[in-house]
Amino acid sequence: MSTEIRIEPYRGRWLDQVLTILTSSLTADPMSRSAFIRKALLDPNVHPNGLPVALRNGTPVGVALAVPPGGAQPSGDRVPGYITMLGVAPDARFQGAGSALLAACEAYLRDCGCSHCQISPYPGGYLTPGVDIRAYAGGMEFLKRRGYGRAGQAISMECDLTGLTEPHWLGDRVQALEAAGIVLEPYRPEWIPPLLEFLGATFSADWQRYARQTAERIELGDSPERLIVARLGDEVVGMSHFDGERFGPIGVSLDHRGRGLGHALMYRTLLAMRSSGYHTAWFLWSGDSTAQRLYDGAGFRVRRRFAIMHKELNLDRAG
Ligand SMILES: CC(C)(COP(=O)(O)OP(=O)(O)OC[C@H]1O[C@@H](n2cnc3c(N)ncnc32)[C@H](O)[C@@H]1OP(=O)(O)O)[C@@H](O)C(=O)NCCC(=O)NCCS
Repeated sequence: MSTEIRIEPYRGRWLDQVLTILTSSLTADPMSRSAFIRKALLDPNVHPNGLPVALRNGTPVGVALAVPPGGAQPSGDRVPGYITMLGVAPDARFQGAGSALLAACEAYLRDCGCSHCQISPYPGGYLTPGVDIRAYAGGMEFLKRRGYGRAGQAISMECDLTGLTEPHWLGDRVQALEAAGIVLEPYRPEWIPPLLEFLGATFSADWQRYARQTAERIELGDSPERLIVARLGDEVVGMSHFDGERFGPIGVSLDHRGRGLGHALMYRTLLAMRSSGYHTAWFLWSGDSTAQRLYDGAGFRVRRRFAIMHKELNLDRAG
């Protein structure tokens, strides 16, 4: 029987087969059933046409996820689209399924008005910040051959919390911050308006989304230590966050950087993580220079390196 590869939009009955494909192909990023349901199926920006499935003789053997940015885009601006997953079962590779999935994703993003495609810093709920250079060396080669170039890099770091000790100078820094009126404290609902204002003014919209989701989870019973706020009078000037073993995001207002506030927030959160029973802390995104300044001292070590891949989608030519 000759091999026929066909692409179809995702259908609900393929859930288990798609999960099996993801487990066998994206081996460095195990995805639970619940994570796939939340991050792919329930994301309001995801449409079945952006979740193409490759069928070999009628059976799913590959899957990809393409997402437009969502929200109103100012006209005339360049609009990014994202591919956040792409995997083909090992026994179905080199038969054109990967290429067909990639082409389907690009066509869908073009239809959504995207001018270029990135793999994969999707702010609406990214899985990884890019392509893991070591784990997916074949995938990198595949993407390069299909016109993708490196637009940047990111790292993931990990820290053993069981050996965590505060640096001797931290107490003095915290005292100096307190003398200047800056106090660190766990989430309280009183801080919701200034926290959202601070995050909106200093960072991107997805930071507000993180804070909202976490506040909701705290109101439903999670520990308030999951979200540490640095306040100065009625203002919020810094925030640090964790979710299970995942550390971050952490951010300090532009006016208050360089005074040890980032370190104070980081240690406060790492110690809260350890008190919650976690042995390890990790995060998935940082430029190397930030990492050196903040994380090396706490014992974070680079675990993975990612390339952020980019391709222009040539809207004019396609249109
Ligand atoms: C990358 C992947 C999706 C390709 O799927 P596929 O069905 O084998 O793709 P195709 O058959 O359409 O094309 C294979 C192409 O990739 C290249 N390729 C794949 N693996 C490669 C490797 N290990 N070394 C060099 N080239 C490789 C082939 O040379 C071929 O290119 P060519 O047609 O220009 O010669 C698949 O290998 C996979 O699932 N890998 C693991 C997950 C991954 O890396 N995802 C991408 C990053 S998120």
